Amino acid sequence: MKILVTGGTGYIGSHTAVVLLQAGHEVVLLDNLCNSSPVVADRITEIAGRPVTLIEGDITDSDTLDQLFRQHSIDSVVHFAGFKAVGESTQYPLPYFGNNVAGTITLLTAMTKANVKKIVFSSSATVYGNTAPVPYVESFGRGQTNNTYGLTKSMIEQILEALSSSDPEWSIISLRYFNPVGAHESGRLGEDPAGIPNNLMPFIAQVAVGRRKQLSIFGGDYPTPDGTCRRDYIHVMDLAEGHLAALNILKPGIDAINLGTGRPLSVLEMVRAFEDVTGVKVPSQIVSRREGDLPEFWADAEKASRVMSWKAKRSLNDMMEDTWRWQLNNPDGYKITE
Ligand code: NAD
Ligand code: WQD
Repeated sequence: MKILVTGGTGYIGSHTAVVLLQAGHEVVLLDNLCNSSPVVADRITEIAGRPVTLIEGDITDSDTLDQLFRQHSIDSVVHFAGFKAVGESTQYPLPYFGNNVAGTITLLTAMTKANVKKIVFSSSATVYGNTAPVPYVESFGRGQTNNTYGLTKSMIEQILEALSSSDPEWSIISLRYFNPVGAHESGRLGEDPAGIPNNLMPFIAQVAVGRRKQLSIFGGDYPTPDGTCRRDYIHVMDLAEGHLAALNILKPGIDAINLGTGRPLSVLEMVRAFEDVTGVKVPSQIVSRREGDLPEFWADAEKASRVMSWKAKRSLNDMMEDTWRWQLNNPDGYKITE
């Protein structure tokens, strides 16, 4: 199959591109590089041992999309492109609606024109909302989210549902990711956040490598076993393989599937695991809670196993080792290493 990967030079898209190439698919990446580097395409090719095509372009630009679909006979689309910073989304809602929601509508319109009606969409555990009980099960439905980013994911899922009801030829899977961490085992691909990382794992890695002084742990008084928040951290390569599994079972209709491990881990457990695996101390301090954080959530991972024979295989040690290898080999991300 020939697969279009939007946002394909980003963190999750790049790892997924490697998995798709290694499974024998042809891969076209579409990325406007607003949060990634073109170097990533070379590294994908290097790891997979097969070429990948990178088109620098924007999902909000219908001309680019129409041309792409004319030039390449795409069978299906894996749609990662979008903005993802939760705090920023609430401060600047319009670019989030514009890029994530309007961008997806432009993509789906171009796909319709080109008669490409298979899509796997990057959704998020955040669509379960603020009050769902744990673990999150797909049958719960969506809840009320307290940030614009989450709202865009929820809106896109609803747009996809409306599309599916309007035209039964569409084959759609929304994958709801929990907390992706880690890097490709080669140390050549990983997460390269611009500026101060919002997420836990890149922050830990940047403290360990000496780029930042200490980790602030947001809240030590949550109703959890050790007082810090718990999340379902999943290795990015497991997540990437989840996309291949989803493509393999795509059929007319629509479904939503969690990609998580089913196991919650606290912030303190993550810091300790990183220190144990790497032997590097991560100075940290418990500070006040971060607004909007939920005490704990994790996936019920049963559906992914049942419907697409996919399970997260990699261990917490793998997550830490691979993060550290990536960070050590690329202390400044993709910037000055080439
Ligand atoms: P990322 O920022 O690393 O990757 C997104 C890529 O999309 C970037 O390379 C960026 O340059 C590109 N992009 C953004 N807007 C674009 C546009 N208009 N046109 C073309 N390219 C565009 O993020 P990621 O962590 O790889 O996340 C990928 C997807 O998964 C996103 O949709 C994100 O919301 C979703 N997701 C991520 C997480 C997470 O924690 N990383 C969790 C749940 C869901
Ligand atoms: C994890 C835990 C923090 C940084 C976000 C989005 C979610 C999804 C994944 C896209 C929390 C704590 C963090 C730090 C800390 N993204 N933390 N110090 O908030 O679970 O999820 O990313 O869909 O939608 O909301 O991930 O990595 O930011 O935080 O103590 O410097 O680490 O409080 O408990 P989160 P995270």
